[in-house]
Amino acid sequence: MGGCPAHHELPNPPSTSMARITVPFNTLLKSALVVSSPALLILGLYVGLGKLTSTEMIYAYVVALVATALVIYPFLSNLAALTHYVKEIALDKRVQAPELSFIGSAMELSEALKRLQASWDVKKKQMETIITEREILVDTLPDILIMVNDEKRVVRTNRAARAIFGQNLAGQELKEVIPNLYLMDAISSVIQDLKGREIEFRIEDPVVRDFLAIIERFPVPTAGGISTVITMNDITELKSVEQMRADFVANASHELRTPLASIKGFVETLLGPAKDDVAAREEFLKIMLDQADRMQQLIGDLLSLSKIEMNAHSVPTEPTDLAKIVRKEVEHHKRSATDKNMRLLLQVQENLPLVKGESNELAQVVHNLVSNAIKYGYADSDVSITLRLTTELPQDLNMRNLSRVVALSVKDQGDGIPKQHLPRLMERFYRVDSARTRQVGGTGLGLAIVKGIITRHRGAITVDSVVGEGTQFSVFLPMYEN
Ligand SMILES: Nc1ncnc2c1ncn2[C@@H]1O[C@H](COP(=O)(O)OP(=O)(O)O)[C@@H](O)[C@H]1O
Ligand SMILES: [Mg+2]
Repeated sequence: MGGCPAHHELPNPPSTSMARITVPFNTLLKSALVVSSPALLILGLYVGLGKLTSTEMIYAYVVALVATALVIYPFLSNLAALTHYVKEIALDKRVQAPELSFIGSAMELSEALKRLQASWDVKKKQMETIITEREILVDTLPDILIMVNDEKRVVRTNRAARAIFGQNLAGQELKEVIPNLYLMDAISSVIQDLKGREIEFRIEDPVVRDFLAIIERFPVPTAGGISTVITMNDITELKSVEQMRADFVANASHELRTPLASIKGFVETLLGPAKDDVAAREEFLKIMLDQADRMQQLIGDLLSLSKIEMNAHSVPTEPTDLAKIVRKEVEHHKRSATDKNMRLLLQVQENLPLVKGESNELAQVVHNLVSNAIKYGYADSDVSITLRLTTELPQDLNMRNLSRVVALSVKDQGDGIPKQHLPRLMERFYRVDSARTRQVGGTGLGLAIVKGIITRHRGAITVDSVVGEGTQFSVFLPMYEN
């Protein structure tokens, strides 16, 4: 079959093995016998009528058989070539259509087959495109997709699923991949009653994760055996935010209820048993005022927090004189320090640059840190407040791209904070020693406010504490550059 143009773009070049297709002798003989059988019949008739001898008949028949074989050979060989061609197409091989000799209908058949192969190629390409597109679509979905069969073995997954549960999931039992009984039960139910389900579940290993899973059943299993599809969303963060909100509301209500109950109790006493007790009235009113102050401070802090949260995504950029703010706050705290016979030692580096910040919020930061130092520092001790420019940031502080920052540190001499409390210290309502800090009048929100403000300023905060010696809070703020 020389002379056929080479198809370089095709994966398998057309084979040129056509020439080797020959008609087996057996086939030729059998076909010739069948086709020449009428001749044999006629020759038999002649022998019966006495017009031919048996020997003559045998000779004549052999001649007829050979002639038949010669006549049908091209037909058979064309047929063999076509059969081979069709077989190769069916096996998806690329072959050259056979070149057929003189027999019109066979040529037509060959032409038809050629066209069939061409349209087959086009359809195949279309199918491949569709499959690839679907695969890409499934893979790029952010949701986790796991498809299982009725034995709850994984058949297919998408990239999001593999990113979380590992590669090579296909063929594994789902319960090995996601060991959660609740999920398995839900899938069994869906497989049984064909009704889709939506469940939330949690896995604890290697870390705690919450998922929302939607389980849907295919009306009929696919060729690959997929019967059920599980779509999952990681809702860990959502859950923890939900939990935090719930805790926050519970905490805030509790903190407000305590002073309120106390005020109510005293009012009842003053209206009842202590009605005419002038001395008691004086004392109770003082306590009530204290409790009302506490409620007021708490509400003020709650409002500050919510305002900071609302502005969390807008970074202050205006130039602010932190030294001025610190001096003012130190002045404000003079009296409470003197009450505990404490000294406030302020050290401000000369020519300190301005920072990028919102002055009211930064005043709040300084206020909270200094009042903590006074509250939790020993009587007769010193509180050192320093303000300087630095290029050295503590490691692991996320303030990249900043060459220089202004550092404010507030250091006290006091009980200090045991290490285990440090990670949670800036959480809302977190207190190291609840009884004691309530007694000294804290809301438990001061450091949460500080942290919120510093985060909004894209600054950083660190705590160093030695139990029995004291604590130092350091705040780092971006320097103002114009
Ligand atoms: N300078 C400090 N020395 C020791 N402990 C401190 C200091 N500052 C804060 N703490 C601890 O951190 C907790 C949280 O502080 P904060 O948020 O300001 O709340 P509080 O209203 O109780 O002062 C305090 O209850 C206290 O236990
Ligand atoms: Mg405080």
